Amino acid sequence: MSEYDLPAFIDDARRIALAGAEPADCVLDIAPLMQKLLMGDRSFLEARHFRADPDHYARNAIHLADDGGPSLYALVWTPGQWTPVHDHGTWGVVGIVEGVLEERNHIRTDHAADVDRGIVLARGGVILLAEGTVTTFVPNPDHIHKTGVPESRARAVSLHLYGRAMNSFHVYDVDAGTRRLIDVPHNES
Ligand SMILES: [Fe+2]
Repeated sequence: MSEYDLPAFIDDARRIALAGAEPADCVLDIAPLMQKLLMGDRSFLEARHFRADPDHYARNAIHLADDGGPSLYALVWTPGQWTPVHDHGTWGVVGIVEGVLEERNHIRTDHAADVDRGIVLARGGVILLAEGTVTTFVPNPDHIHKTGVPESRARAVSLHLYGRAMNSFHVYDVDAGTRRLIDVPHNES
């Protein structure tokens, strides 16, 4: 059962995603594959994938595609590091390698015609993602959340497969009711 490795996972994810499946079907099909990858031999994770950054959570690229295929990153969360409230504009499959990653959800409750203004967010639930857990999300409506690790917990490391190259996302200003697109950096090699 430990035969399933990174190249097989990438091949399967690309085949599913590039076949043009609906986002909800992509995550339905890929979630168990992410779990299989986590349960197997993790030697595909190299020291560079565990790089942390003292200033913010670190995004270490594992697989980047320039043909519209999915991208895979290892994210390293030092205690006290959080994303802003954000969405991704695509689907995603997340698997936890180490530690407990916390996700705090927000629900958009307005019906504003302008997608970037007049945003009213209600605080939603929280989920604690432990090692081996797989979670997914789809866009439209956007999955709006912040993710991180409180100061009181140990470092977390997670794998994130996205339906596109994840080099930008929307960041929400909850109080102002606005959102804007920002570039998000990653370590490439
Ligand atoms: Fe996210």
